[in-house]
Amino acid sequence: MATRKPIVAGNWKMNKTVTEAIALVDDVKRDLANCSEVDVVFCPPFTALKAVSDAVTGTHLDLGAQNMHWEASGAYTGEISAGMLRELFCHYVILGHSERRAYFHETDEIVNKKVKAALAANLRPIVCVGELLEDRDAGRTEAVVEEQVRGSLAGLSAREWADVVIAYEPVWAIGTGRTATPEQAQEVHAFIRTVIASMADESLAQSVRIQYGGSMKPSNAPELMSQPDIDGGLIGGAALDARSFVDIVKAAM
Ligand code: PGA
Repeated sequence: MATRKPIVAGNWKMNKTVTEAIALVDDVKRDLANCSEVDVVFCPPFTALKAVSDAVTGTHLDLGAQNMHWEASGAYTGEISAGMLRELFCHYVILGHSERRAYFHETDEIVNKKVKAALAANLRPIVCVGELLEDRDAGRTEAVVEEQVRGSLAGLSAREWADVVIAYEPVWAIGTGRTATPEQAQEVHAFIRTVIASMADESLAQSVRIQYGGSMKPSNAPELMSQPDIDGGLIGGAALDARSFVDIVKAAM
């Protein structure tokens, strides 16, 4: 059985000015600066990346972005490339979040291009997948998640797979206060490993880290994290408060 290091990432979405970002990171640092049992990653908006990068220098805390373009440079007004992120000591990038898919029309094909560009630049993609409530109600959860995993992660080498993190985020649980039960989440996480096994191989299926996301908070984190195939969390709302974020990270230890 592979041992997977838990990873907890805070997806701040469009929240926190630079000043607010520094204050939040300073609060988290007081408790977690030397945390080595869990990979802890802040994913602030682009405008706060540099400040957060400076704030985590010399600690065990890490930095991620929430999106990027797949091209290295060029006429793409409003976009940011992997190389620009790397220069800020960004090591992760969230790709294919359901909000990007829903509001900005990102398809699996687009996500796949971004994943490959991120990996080529030595950024670890946190690739989000998850079904809508109507999919779950219609018994289509596995079909939808499988299509997203296959499409978003198509054509990767074994070396590339080793740097991938997947976030299973049922869309109906995001920002709604409605969490998947630990059993519901575990079932999909285990299923995702069978998909990875068929795309790559069994040992990669056992070593890729799969986070749960969707209304994770200190009260439900311990039970979710104790599931055998859940390797941490992608935290939205609860990551905006230092105390609750720290408590979630502690639940992953
Ligand atoms: P939430 O968001 O924790 O606020 O539900 C999670 C996410 O969207 O990544």
